[in-house]
Amino acid sequence: MRSFSTRVAALALLPLALAVAHAPGVKATEANEVNVYSYRQPYLITPLFKAFTEQTGIKVNVIFAEKGLIERIAAEGRNSPADVLLTVDVGNLMQAKDAGIGQAIHSAPLEAAIPQAYRDDGGIWWGLTRRARVVYASKERVKPDRITYEDLADPKWRGKICIRSGQHVYNVALIASMLAAHGKDWTETWLKGVKANLARKPAGDDRLQVKGVYAGECDIAVGNTYYMGAMLQNDKEPEQKDWANSVNILFPNTGDRGTHVNISGALVAK
Ligand SMILES: [Fe+2]
Repeated sequence: MRSFSTRVAALALLPLALAVAHAPGVKATEANEVNVYSYRQPYLITPLFKAFTEQTGIKVNVIFAEKGLIERIAAEGRNSPADVLLTVDVGNLMQAKDAGIGQAIHSAPLEAAIPQAYRDDGGIWWGLTRRARVVYASKERVKPDRITYEDLADPKWRGKICIRSGQHVYNVALIASMLAAHGKDWTETWLKGVKANLARKPAGDDRLQVKGVYAGECDIAVGNTYYMGAMLQNDKEPEQKDWANSVNILFPNTGDRGTHVNISGALVAK
């Protein structure tokens, strides 16, 4: 996996938005202010805005929400004060593009900072960070240090896998990657195999699957990479450190097509 500077990219988008906001026919944002609609959580994003304002003197006005922002920008239409949308998941970015709320940006710094695989060909949306969907394996009970997503359907894992709902967007994207790699019929068989290997009915978020490993309910859990850091640093709920310390992270498919990643990203509103 190549690295790219998320911070440079995130900061680079905002002045672009500001320039766009002063173009004719677009509702003006106050000079030296930029309006951001964010699905990303305040604790993650606020420090970035603070640094941006310190560097540029441009004030950042933010609306944080868990849902409805794409629909809101679409409904506000020409009167929308939104300059930038921040979100996670490529599905949401494509949905925003399909809703027609974004505009194409052409920027040498952004193109240099963000590999082509992580941005829209037409310049509508731009990936800012990546998250890998990995296997959290019990340190005590799992010996192999290599695994593939394909292996998750192997009967040797019968009753040993914890994973959140297959309808959650993180798993929908993972399943989509299996469809792309193997096709429909193969993926259906694989899904039935994975389901047969589940230790319990899917419930809860990614961290609670790792808790399942810690508690001995399952040997492996599937989750996004950043939850390891979030658990290890969770001083409010220190028991999560024990969950994290009970597992190793295995990056699936490093020997062939690579580990599945999703992105967070941004677009400049039309
Ligand atoms: Fe998450």
